[in-house]
Amino acid sequence: MNEKDIAGDLEEILVTAEDMDKRLDEIAGEIDAYYQGEQVLMIGVLRGSLMIMADLSRKLSTPVAMDWMALSSYGSGTQSSGVVRILKDLTEDIKVRHVLIVEDIIDSGLTLSWLVANLETREPASIKIVTAVRKSEAVCRMNVNADWVAFDLPDAFLVGYGLDYNEKYRNLPFICTLAEHVYTS
Ligand code: IMP
Ligand code: MG
Repeated sequence: MNEKDIAGDLEEILVTAEDMDKRLDEIAGEIDAYYQGEQVLMIGVLRGSLMIMADLSRKLSTPVAMDWMALSSYGSGTQSSGVVRILKDLTEDIKVRHVLIVEDIIDSGLTLSWLVANLETREPASIKIVTAVRKSEAVCRMNVNADWVAFDLPDAFLVGYGLDYNEKYRNLPFICTLAEHVYTS
């Protein structure tokens, strides 16, 4: 899927595929330097993190295993409520393992702070967080710190690179905002 496929829905491209590729090269270098060859378990939060999981993991020299969780934060449309439910739990036991949570976006930070608290009860050796996007508002709102952030973006509703609106647009290679008529129609 690309620009021409959503021409009428597209407002502005904020992160191109090339921007993301370059930024993930930098982040992969930092992550490799941080873990120093230790085995890491990457935990992707379904479904939005599939793109960054696939792209980032392939850039790492760090030996990684991958597991996935699916969470639902109750609420509809474009708002997250903070009430989180596990739809799919991990397959792996994370006790004494180095966990790297892989997120698509931190908006309110509610989902992530809930997830970190949940994983901490399972006694991993460490928990770090990498996210493709952090919305500027999220920085101060929640007590959750991402260790690696690909892009800090303004507080607009974003799609592409894993991010969806009503399950559409996840397969765009870039991150963009949508034209207003998409929400209002
Ligand atoms: P939270 O507000 O940080 O808890 O974000 C919860 C979830 O809402 C994220 O993991 C995304 O799946 C979704 N989300 C938040 N902001 C956006 C957005 O701008 N576009 C698409 N999905 C979003
Ligand atoms: Mg998510």
